Amino acid sequence: MKMNPWTLSVLLLLAGPLGADPGWHVEYPDSFCVVEGSTATIPCSFTHPAGLRVERVVWCPNHKFCSGTTPNVYDSSNVRADSRFLYLGDRVRNCTLKIIKTVKQDAATYRFRFETNGNKYNKYTGRKGVRVNVTNGEVVKVRSSVTDNVVKEGGQVTLTCTSACSFHQLDVHWYRNGHVLSETGPALHLSYLTNDDAGDYTCSLDSSWQKTSAPWSLVVVEDEEKSGWRVTVSVVSVLLAVILLLAGLVFAKRRHAQKKASEVIQKQEVDRKQEAVGASDEVSYATVHFKPSSSRSAPGPEHETVYSEVVR
Ligand SMILES: *[C@@H]1O[C@H](CO)[C@@H](O)[C@H](O)[C@H]1NC(C)=O
Repeated sequence: MKMNPWTLSVLLLLAGPLGADPGWHVEYPDSFCVVEGSTATIPCSFTHPAGLRVERVVWCPNHKFCSGTTPNVYDSSNVRADSRFLYLGDRVRNCTLKIIKTVKQDAATYRFRFETNGNKYNKYTGRKGVRVNVTNGEVVKVRSSVTDNVVKEGGQVTLTCTSACSFHQLDVHWYRNGHVLSETGPALHLSYLTNDDAGDYTCSLDSSWQKTSAPWSLVVVEDEEKSGWRVTVSVVSVLLAVILLLAGLVFAKRRHAQKKASEVIQKQEVDRKQEAVGASDEVSYATVHFKPSSSRSAPGPEHETVYSEVVR
């Protein structure tokens, strides 16, 4: 018979918990973050097969079973080992543990064990445990993919927002010089770095006790190889500009000279024309009057000749 994958996975899901004895179970977070000096309440719940009565509950650090005389922080059948550890749970299903005024030495993986009234096999320890981290207040940190904070222009860097606590489903926000960036999530990838990317980076966790990390400074330096190229390119362009300028000057000068020459020629032509026009303009009138004499025989004052000339 051929089974479709969906049916198969449903069957596996059903078979899984059945096979692993669903009756015995302890549920707590993978890790838990506590700031030194503060009080932490570690949530915990447990189940066991029906018909059994819980007779003893134990919380112990760094031991796989919390069995026998293993040092513990809480034992319901003994005088409390450490008064800073309070059992807020019950003997039914709640195994919540409270740690008051946490100290650095409290950092450990704690496990919960419960023993029932059944035979000697009716005992159970939540093997996974809860890892308690104690931090000195620096809960949120920016870590970078580079060893120092100096990165070449055009390079890249990945910043991750880390926390002493696990924060997989928390919102992470990023800031540069206090201004929020559009990128969110535990990692911030910066590539093709320019000087604009330089600055102080911080990240924040919405549901963290200490919201914002200490700043991580990014310094972007010019790539020497690139800047070498840039120098070459700029020298070449300056040279080109100078050549073009000189060529332009020469061209302009030549044009100017040509213009001047043609102007001279034109002027000469105009002059010549004007000369010609002036010549025709120069009108001179010459009139000669001869007054006829009444008598030729009698020369005298009557014999007159008038010459007049008008020159304009
Ligand atoms: C377990 O007990 C604690 C402390 O009394 C309480 O805050 C928590 O809600 C309880 N958890 C459950 C699952 O009942």
